[in-house]
Amino acid sequence: MSLVVSPASPCPILCVGLACLDIVNYCDYYPQEDSDVRARDQKWCSGGNALNTCKVLSLIGRHCELVTTLGEGMETDFIVSEMDRYGVPHSCCVPYPQCRLPTSYIVLNTTNGSRTIVHYRNLPELTCEDFLKVDISPFSWIHFEGRCPDVYSKLVSRVQEHNQTAENKIIISIEVEKTKIQFSVLIPLADVLIVGKDVAQYLGYQTMEEAVVKLRETAKHSAIVVCPWGDKGAAASDKDGKVYQCPATPPARLVDTLGAGDTFNAGLIHSLSLEKGVEKSLQFACDLAGAKCGMAGFDGLKSFC
Ligand code: ADP
Ligand code: FRU
Repeated sequence: MSLVVSPASPCPILCVGLACLDIVNYCDYYPQEDSDVRARDQKWCSGGNALNTCKVLSLIGRHCELVTTLGEGMETDFIVSEMDRYGVPHSCCVPYPQCRLPTSYIVLNTTNGSRTIVHYRNLPELTCEDFLKVDISPFSWIHFEGRCPDVYSKLVSRVQEHNQTAENKIIISIEVEKTKIQFSVLIPLADVLIVGKDVAQYLGYQTMEEAVVKLRETAKHSAIVVCPWGDKGAAASDKDGKVYQCPATPPARLVDTLGAGDTFNAGLIHSLSLEKGVEKSLQFACDLAGAKCGMAGFDGLKSFC
């Protein structure tokens, strides 16, 4: 059954990045190494930053699509059926026969909502050739989950080239949240740059405010720079360098933080694309992500807007 019943809104959004299978083990506590514990429950869920962001956008009534690579087999079949359920089209996804979909094994601690992820993949990443086949002209916003910077920087260049002649410019947002990649090449490319706490700390920034101020030095001159900081909330600086800080919106009970950042991104993109401004958009993103932390999975966000 589809979760999406409302008519799709204008200004479609394209997300580029990961789709994977999340095998979530719900445990009363985080197990000790080399112990033997029993999970209370186990669920197969669709995951991956880009797919999670698409799911949330779709749940809050936005038309969005995903570009990713897909494998073959029961994991991929499951993800495709989940995308149908969320109303996220998969016609732009690139199938790689004889490859399995990436899988995350997740321990979700039901006492404090923490999620510990062990991710495995051997599926090829999206290539420039794959992305060239996608007609990007219908989209008003393209969000890139910052993966493989050498390839993704070329994907972004393609959107920038399109923008040089297009009447309706596509806004480019980029999320940089992994320290293990050579992410610096992505930083100057975004109109909306979202830098995760781990990356900010890796760069030596002590606070989210410091991060958004210092990141402006290498970001695009007119960029909006955003830094989510877990249960502390998020900060942003606007095109003029004005800094905003928004505390997190704590749920009544912390249930599940898996995908909080992806939900935050969806809320931010949704609100900024409706020209609500940086301050309001930061608040909306924190409210949406906080609501997500208070529920298992994402489906309850359907009643958020
Ligand atoms: P992730 O680790 O999933 O990428 P973050 O930890 O950076 O995500 O959090 C993203 C956003 O989610 C934060 O800016 C905040 O708004 C919200 N958030 C995260 N953890 C909590 C929490 N414990 N309570 C309320 N909101 C939270
Ligand atoms: C959450 C998530 C999970 C996935 C993992 C990949 O942000 O996208 O759904 O398993 O991160 O790193």
